Amino acid sequence: MRNLGKGATIQSVATKEGLPIRVVQLNVTEERSINDAIHSIKSDVGKIDVLVNNAGYGLNGAFEDLAMEEIKAQYETNLFGVIRVTQAVLPIMRKQKSGIIVNISSGAGRFGYPGGSAYVSTKFAIEGLSESMAYELEPFGIRVVLVEPGVIKTNFVNSIVAAKKSQDPNSPYAQLMQNVATSFQHMIEGGSSTDVVAKVVLKAVTSENPTLRYLAGNDVETWIEGKKSMSDEEFYKMMKENLMT
Ligand SMILES: NC(=O)c1ccc[n+]([C@@H]2O[C@H](COP(=O)([O-])OP(=O)(O)OC[C@H]3O[C@@H](n4cnc5c(N)ncnc54)[C@H](OP(=O)(O)O)[C@@H]3O)[C@@H](O)[C@H]2O)c1
Repeated sequence: MRNLGKGATIQSVATKEGLPIRVVQLNVTEERSINDAIHSIKSDVGKIDVLVNNAGYGLNGAFEDLAMEEIKAQYETNLFGVIRVTQAVLPIMRKQKSGIIVNISSGAGRFGYPGGSAYVSTKFAIEGLSESMAYELEPFGIRVVLVEPGVIKTNFVNSIVAAKKSQDPNSPYAQLMQNVATSFQHMIEGGSSTDVVAKVVLKAVTSENPTLRYLAGNDVETWIEGKKSMSDEEFYKMMKENLMT
């Protein structure tokens, strides 16, 4: 984790459960911190079997209201963070001829929604990145997996960064964003618990033959089912009716 001060909870669970967990400092936006963490793990245990790229946050705001620095910061964590950490780990997995990389994408890696262009585009990028890497890495015994959660009750909502301009009540998108926020509030209340995602990750990493994509949550299963059975236009209309009115 980037802030070791937050490590007490997981350390105490690990101690209680008798799990050999060690928390190391790693900020996905800082190359040095990544290299130090990977080096420390490698010298401690000699190998890395599993990499879960999980760090991420949401930037909210209509596209026109997003400042370039806000978009860049979003990409630094959600996309370039995944790229940096994966590139640091790959030489180790390639030499050991085994490993599995789990990239935490989202339902938002499969469809867009109003106010989510920055976040959604990082998750679409992770999907393309993972799908392409899978071909390259399989010959080295390394598997790539995408986990696509629906709405999960984590600290995600509290960590959302609202674009500065989108907070201006005079923004031409203010009403739209208000409608979307109200719709999301209902979804958040019905969100899944974190163990839904944990179980899916565990299933993927312990599978003999993991598939490229795993959905996590009943809501996302319904959305993807809809996406498969509807034309783009039908899906767009359904999303519009659900989120914007
Ligand atoms: N919750 C959902 O509904 C949902 C749905 C689909 C996908 N996801 C994805 O699930 C992943 C985990 O999110 P979450 O829901 O668990 O949200 P969360 O509770 O806010 O957790 C995000 C974690 O990422 C860490 N993080 C953020 N920036 C980092 C950085 N630069 N370096 C290292 N760690 C960093 C945060 O650390 P700090 O504690 O220091 O802030 C926090 O521990 C994200 O990729 C998110 O996009 C979430």
